[in-house]
Amino acid sequence: MLGRILEWVDERTGIKEIHKTQMVDYKVPKNLTFPYVFGILALTTFALQIISGIILIMYYKPIIAHAFDSANYTIMREVDFGWLFRNIHAAGANFFLAIVYLHMFTGIYYNAYKKPRELVWIIGWVIYFVLLTTALTGYLLPWGQLSYWGTVVTTEIPASLADAPILKGFFGAIGETISYWMKGGYKLEDLALGRFFGLHVLFLPLVLLALVGIHLFLVRAAGISNPDGYEIDKKAEPEKVVPFHPYMTLKEGAYAMWYLAIFFFFVFFYMGHFLPADNFEPADPLKTPPHIAPEWYLLGFYEVFRSIPSKFWGFIAFNLILVLLLLLPFLDFSPVKSARRRPLFFIAFVIFLISSMALTVLGSMAPTPANAKLGMFFTFLVFLFFLSLPVISFLEWGWHKAKGGQV
Ligand code: HEM
Repeated sequence: MLGRILEWVDERTGIKEIHKTQMVDYKVPKNLTFPYVFGILALTTFALQIISGIILIMYYKPIIAHAFDSANYTIMREVDFGWLFRNIHAAGANFFLAIVYLHMFTGIYYNAYKKPRELVWIIGWVIYFVLLTTALTGYLLPWGQLSYWGTVVTTEIPASLADAPILKGFFGAIGETISYWMKGGYKLEDLALGRFFGLHVLFLPLVLLALVGIHLFLVRAAGISNPDGYEIDKKAEPEKVVPFHPYMTLKEGAYAMWYLAIFFFFVFFYMGHFLPADNFEPADPLKTPPHIAPEWYLLGFYEVFRSIPSKFWGFIAFNLILVLLLLLPFLDFSPVKSARRRPLFFIAFVIFLISSMALTVLGSMAPTPANAKLGMFFTFLVFLFFLSLPVISFLEWGWHKAKGGQV
């Protein structure tokens, strides 16, 4: 029966030919390592977020008078399985960012941002930026104490521009305008909630869908990189590649199942971290909670911001890190790829990885003078990583050419 339906569809669409050319004739390197799976896991999590999000919008009410109750009472207690979809969405946001970070570090380790994949990286960077904005706008919606105060802190960050060493008034006005524009007023009220809701449930997901589509198209166009750092000539070296289907589909499908098993373990048994108790208290603009820190995926940037004594330079520093991340394909210009055969780059990568993790941990700790010094030290190392890349590239390329190595 299924076969006959497929024949019927194929006669009208040529789907079998599309499957053959896009899945079977499309070849990928044989030697892809485990971290190459994070792209598919990001895609899996994205699907979970869209599905659970659609269910949540059906019951959530984006006005202050009802937001908290609709999220915490209607969805969690009245709607059948509403708790399940909220848990999936809240845990999913954290898993999504964790997977995307792992995916980015994999790309950096194997230098997957280099020619011919610069555009894959650039669109990936835009995805990361939009993803952070999506997380930020979604965080306010349950209108709990953490949602409210976390958003107050984030929307006040542009105001640090008023600390500029020169033209204070000019920068101050820009910062205030950005902050005002984000909130739709001087305070977080219904206008802000409506604005965040519209962005979170419609605009940003549509942008993300389009960007992920372009990202995948670009991955296809450039071909997946290789952990050894060599570009495989698929026609001349057929022994080094395998058909995407069934080899990759089965392998990545199996990993996706394991991933879902771990994900749902958290959804069913360990939601304390993803839906913290403090957020089950309605937002009170008159009562500041004792500990307000951004979510873990922003802590690294937050630590860079607060460890630098001038708020203005702190603001510039964390934005500069984002810009340097975008410029990675151009800073690391040598055609030699993969940390596996780049000893200096390998050391720089390890320092960058450790510094990023250290900044994240420090961002969650109390802002003591000792922590601020450590924060500054690791911020310095992060900048050193980016700024040493042109030098490392130059040296390693020179050695490589001297040895007559293949690019
Ligand atoms: C919604 C988020 C994302 C999804 C669903 C996604 C999906 C994918 C998939 C399926 C692949 C091919 C398989 C693989 O190499 O893992 C891939 C490759 C790639 N992605 Fe992403 N990605 C996302 C975000 C990002 C971000 C934030 C960056 C970097 C800033 C990025 C950079 C790359 C690069 C450089 C490659 C090429 C890897 C290679 O050829 O080795 N991606 N992505």
